[in-house]
Formats: sequence, structure tokens, C-alpha cells
Amino acid sequence: MEIIRTVGEMKERARALRASGAVIGLVPTMGYLHEGHLTLVRTARELADSVVVSIFVNPTQFGPSEDLATYPRDLERDVALLEDAGADIVFAPEAPDVYPRGFATVVHVQRLGEKLCGAFRPGHFDGVCTVVAKLFEVVRPDLSVFGQKDGQQAAIIERMVEDLGMDVQVIRGPTVREPDGLALSSRNGYLSDEERAEAPVLHAALEHARSLYDSGETDTARVLGEVRAMIEAKPHAEVQYVSAVDWKSLDDVAELRAGTMLALAVFFGKTRLIDNLVLGEAGGEG
Ligand code: PAF
Repeated sequence: MEIIRTVGEMKERARALRASGAVIGLVPTMGYLHEGHLTLVRTARELADSVVVSIFVNPTQFGPSEDLATYPRDLERDVALLEDAGADIVFAPEAPDVYPRGFATVVHVQRLGEKLCGAFRPGHFDGVCTVVAKLFEVVRPDLSVFGQKDGQQAAIIERMVEDLGMDVQVIRGPTVREPDGLALSSRNGYLSDEERAEAPVLHAALEHARSLYDSGETDTARVLGEVRAMIEAKPHAEVQYVSAVDWKSLDDVAELRAGTMLALAVFFGKTRLIDNLVLGEAGGEG
């Protein structure tokens, strides 16, 4: 496995891969990898000849009061995990190389980036889209894999790719969960023992919503009310939002139907966790 630390070198290597006819798969990450990321890498491994994993803690997607400085980092450990998962190239650039002095251009996806998490993290999805567009330009992958755990992010990237006519196939990988249902996240490590014990309620509440829907309930307000009540029964949980949207367009849905994404963000103490589930077959495992 190769480790590439500069944009220039990565462009050159990707150019050579393309010239050899290799199908290139890119898995963008911010590092501190867990089984969720490794599942995305394995998905790319099945579909591409050459798998590039980027590791870059992207400063432009963090708000001023967010955890950029303390975001967990461990490149050595990540490299070892990626070697085992079958990645071919780790691309781990430094911020000044990605954002040159005087950087002034952002990619803004209207509407989709302003709701759900975007309503509480202004500018977050501009940062995500900008860095992903840059990674696509550097690596020029044929396909790129994003986790359904960040369902809004995946829908926004799909919109960006379609709107800008980017030649990349976006693939959504499944959410990987702990045995008790908690979705894997680099931020789970911030939870205290008590918060960690309560956090599986997120998945349990979403599964409760799924069972209501499966038994014929389509009243969005009622189902979201039950989800919220289950979570609010936990003393450390503070709900930021619980919403029902179409999994692709992110439009609000008044009546639940297949393809509805139930999405939520909840604080446990200072730690903000997100999760979602897509009803019916449309979105696969949420
Ligand atoms: O999902 C993430 O880890 C990040 O938002 C991404 C896609 C790597 C962009 O920085």
C-alpha cells in the first residue's frame, strides 16, 4: 500500500492509474477509522481495481465552536487498518496543500444543505462539498463510496455530482452498528459510560418507527412524536431534531412511504450523534 502526502503526487499517480485503464474507487474519510469506514473500503475493493482512501480532517466543515482541534487522529493506526482492508493508496494531504493561500471558492448545494444537520451547522455542507469536489478533481475516481450513516451528506453529494455533471458514480455503503444498535462513529469515544449506555435508544427509536410503519401507520407527526418521546425518556439525551424526508431529494414528507428517511441528531452531554433509517426497500439498510 502506498502513502501519498501531497496533492501533486496524488494527481500524478491517479493520472498513471487512469492511463493504465484501472477503475479507480475513492473512499473519502477524516481518519480515526472504524469498521464503518472499513466496510466502505471493502465495497470499493469489490468494484474498483485501485482503491484510494483519503484521510483529511477537513477544517472548512467544522463550525467555530466545533471539535476540529480535538477531532481524534491516528494516522499510523489508520494505515495499518487500511492495509488489512485491502486499500491500495492512502492519500493524506496537509491543509495548506488542499486549501492554498487566498482560497476563495466554495461549492454550495442549495436547499439540501440548509435543513436537518445543515440548519444547526451553518456552512458545514459547503465545507463537505468543497473538499469532496476537490478530492474528486485530484483523484478523478470512477466511483466513490459514502456511508448511509451520513444520509444527508450522501444525498447532497449525489445532487452535487448530478448538478455539476461530475463523472463519478456515488455509492452508498451500509451503516455499521455495535451489537446493541449504536451506529459506529468516531465520536462515540467521547461518550461517558452513562451516555454510552443510553445511546442505543437512537436505533431502538428508529426501529420502533419502522415497526409502526410496517404495521400500517403513515402519520409522520405521530411517528416522529413517538421517536422523540422514546429518546427524551433518557436523562442524558437532548434531541436536536427528528425529521422525515425523502432519502434522495431530502424533501419533507407528510405521509410516511417507502424511501422516507427518518433522520435525527441528539446530544448526549456534549457529544452530538446522528442516525437514520430508510423505510421500505429504497434505501437498503439504514
Ligand atoms: O464523512 C466524512 O468523514 C467527511 O464529511 C468527508 C466526506 C470525508 C468530507 O470531509
